[in-house]
Amino acid sequence: MGFRKDFLWGGATAANQCEGAWNVDGKGVSVSDICTGGKFGQSKRITPVLEEGTFYPSHEAIRHYEMFREDIALFAEMGFKCYRFSINWTRIFPNGDEQEPNEAGLKHYDEVIDECLKYGMEPVITISHYEVPFGLTKKCNAWTSREMIGYYLNYCKAIFERYKGKVKYWLTFNEINSSVAPMGALLNQGILNDLENPTEFMKQPDLTQQRFQGLHHMFLASAQAVKMAHEIDPEYKVGNMMIYAASYPLTCNPDDVLEAQKYNRLYNYYCTDVQAKGAYPAYADKLLKDMGVVLEKQPEDDEILKNGTVDFITFSYYMSSCQTADKSKESGEGNILGGVPNPYLETSDWGWQIDPKGLRYALNDLSDRYQLPLMVVENGLGAKDVIEEDGSINDDYRIDYLRQHIEQMELAVEDGVDLMGYTPWGCIDLVSASTGEYEKRYGMIYVRRYDDGTGDFARLKKKSFYWYKKVIETNGEIL
Ligand code: BG6
Repeated sequence: MGFRKDFLWGGATAANQCEGAWNVDGKGVSVSDICTGGKFGQSKRITPVLEEGTFYPSHEAIRHYEMFREDIALFAEMGFKCYRFSINWTRIFPNGDEQEPNEAGLKHYDEVIDECLKYGMEPVITISHYEVPFGLTKKCNAWTSREMIGYYLNYCKAIFERYKGKVKYWLTFNEINSSVAPMGALLNQGILNDLENPTEFMKQPDLTQQRFQGLHHMFLASAQAVKMAHEIDPEYKVGNMMIYAASYPLTCNPDDVLEAQKYNRLYNYYCTDVQAKGAYPAYADKLLKDMGVVLEKQPEDDEILKNGTVDFITFSYYMSSCQTADKSKESGEGNILGGVPNPYLETSDWGWQIDPKGLRYALNDLSDRYQLPLMVVENGLGAKDVIEEDGSINDDYRIDYLRQHIEQMELAVEDGVDLMGYTPWGCIDLVSASTGEYEKRYGMIYVRRYDDGTGDFARLKKKSFYWYKKVIETNGEIL
């Protein structure tokens, strides 16, 4: 049976993690630009005022802004059918609240899109991927404020109109459900409560109320963006983008089963139920009440949500965890979304538990629940790579990881899932979102750039480059 003929094989990146050129051609500052480097076990820091002499990885990242032609040519060599990337909001609206877009920013993405189309590669564009304009954080504390909906829609209008006829697939927000956890406050929503006192990224003072009110604003923005996209170009297909945080009961104790159900509702369904079904689920009231959250809504909100449901579901999938009612069990280190380790699984060097079968489970679960086409828009292994003396990079561990996940995707297709495509994360090495480092590499293309700020940015093909090329050539038949 296998994958469909028009299966969208490709790879994924995000502007803030690969472009660099953080203040070039009129670009404004985004929240990622004020985060320092970090590493596993040592959180990156948030510095609202940039510090002289401190290393900010997003400022140069991997120089994709200048080198996108070379990078896209390498993707084309692997045979990519699509390239998922994000538009950096602050290239189009530097502060976020301008009336008119920045022409230089629009022009840059004209060139990126044209370069993709030259090779027959479908652009899959994330509108907001951890790149909220810092100007809006300062102005209204970003998504805590309902004002943001207008700024976001202004931005959407500019790009939907500009790229009409060239782009088909849009994703409204990257990993929108990252904001059900404190980590998503600044990263995803641009929320920063104390501009005077910098904190560590992992220790932001957290206000649950703000995050969930912010999500409500994002749901409204997403729904209106879907409607606007369809009005501007009926050919546009707009998807959500969520983290699928696969989670199992640690034991068959019914208390653990109930814990897992609670977790799944919060992490995996809360956002997507709204974005795909057009209304808050029945369990939302109790879930919010238990967290002490009271949502402020306007009378027109229910109608807005109903009229802007997404056309397809996309998600990232990296790992799974277990839930238990036994409070004495420790959460696994590196498990940023909570949960305890699964004794049946191995763990990556960054503490993420590797679970290929969890991807089959995820695909079936989302397909059953939403009955929409699905796309896996992130998946991959963050690992340390070594350049051998002969210049080769033998990343068999990455090939194994990807192979096992693709096998499970294929089984899910046999199970009946309508799967549109697969874009492994960081097809080219880039800066890690959670830790702010280069050492955690995902790519099939190595970038000679290091955490001490050295490196010449040269691109080298890893063993996985040649392997993935074969996978695409055979539509997944040779793994
Ligand atoms: C997802 C994000 O969380 O996972 C990406 O959408 C991120 O931006 C990726 O880079 C991998 O996570 P990390 O923390 O290893 O970079």
